[in-house]
Amino acid sequence: MSKLRMGVIGVGGIAQTRHLPAFQQLDTVELTAVQDVNVERAKQVAGTFDIPYAFEDYHALFEKVDAVTICTPNKFHAEISVAALNAGVHVLCEKPMAITTAECEAMIEAAEKNDRLLSIAYHYRYTPEAVLAKQAIENDEVGDPLVTRVQAMRRRKVPGWGVFTNKDLQGGGSLIDFGCHLLDLALWLLDDPKPVEVMAKAYDRLSKTPGLVNDWGEFDTENFNVDDHVTSYITFEDGSSMMFECSWAANIKDDHTTLTISGANGGLSVYPFELYQDKYGALFNQTAVIREEEPVEGLVQAKNFVDSCLGNDELIVRPEQALKVNRLMEAIYESSEKGTSVKLV
Ligand SMILES: NC(=O)c1ccc[n+]([C@@H]2O[C@H](COP(=O)([O-])OP(=O)(O)OC[C@H]3O[C@@H](n4cnc5c(N)ncnc54)[C@H](O)[C@@H]3O)[C@@H](O)[C@H]2O)c1
Repeated sequence: MSKLRMGVIGVGGIAQTRHLPAFQQLDTVELTAVQDVNVERAKQVAGTFDIPYAFEDYHALFEKVDAVTICTPNKFHAEISVAALNAGVHVLCEKPMAITTAECEAMIEAAEKNDRLLSIAYHYRYTPEAVLAKQAIENDEVGDPLVTRVQAMRRRKVPGWGVFTNKDLQGGGSLIDFGCHLLDLALWLLDDPKPVEVMAKAYDRLSKTPGLVNDWGEFDTENFNVDDHVTSYITFEDGSSMMFECSWAANIKDDHTTLTISGANGGLSVYPFELYQDKYGALFNQTAVIREEEPVEGLVQAKNFVDSCLGNDELIVRPEQALKVNRLMEAIYESSEKGTSVKLV
């Protein structure tokens, strides 16, 4: 079987802990090149993962690869994706797809124009619980969705490394970094409902408090200029609604990730996976036993992307879907800034 020549751009935390180890495990992949503006880091990572080429300029990398994973700060996702696609290279870009919807549209246009694949690393979709939830919904266990509740909550975990609290480089905070995963997962499970109206509020007060007790290291509270907690109420054209909340810093008892859908036939929770139904005149709860002991989503994500590039599978995360997540996030931020709801149709 022919191998896909893979490269990685931006070899910081997520590249080293998720993407490179996953690609290394696939016998359909040959890791040929890495690139980083910090070329010393690129060289060191190339050495660790036994990769032949390390570059400072990403254009040079394109000549050595068939596909690339982009793991830079969000500000550079669109620029580098478009350049890669124009060079005939397939792209798996880290989430969020980009900062603005206009950037996302340019990425899709470049993928279409060059007939190359573009996917976004919304890896929650590949968790065993999410895969079960998708199957249960497709088998009509839930029926028409009515009310979806999403909570992506961290108590005091503002990332104290990288550039996560820099609005210019990231475009936002808890929503664009963490909430985006659960928004994507919810929209995918709900089969892409059309948002009608969004009401939202974004907060930053806790993270601007000098000396904040924070579990994920130190950050500059004085120059903190992104959101650390976001609430939103979203209505959809099919009559369903979503209560959405995410945080990096909140005064709550503990961290939790919740996604529940209450439908006309039944309901489900994704984390942990449970089904709520009625049968034989009684209320039933079913819980899935998840066998995997280690996280599998990084590997499943890499395999889906590589197999799709080789023509042996279809992308699970399509770029038009990721664009819709950005559109919704833009509306959430706009609603909070204006203090009014935002209509999307
Ligand atoms: N899927 C997930 O759950 C997840 C988790 C963490 C991060 N991420 C995403 O991955 C991306 C990177 O995050 P990270 O935690 O690895 O950050 P990081 O700061 O650890 O690494 C970023 C790397 O990109 C390099 N870089 C910066 N600008 C560049 C440019 N213009 N060209 C090439 N390289 C450049 C930096 O030198 C650094 O090595 C972000 O978009 C983030 O949202 C996703």
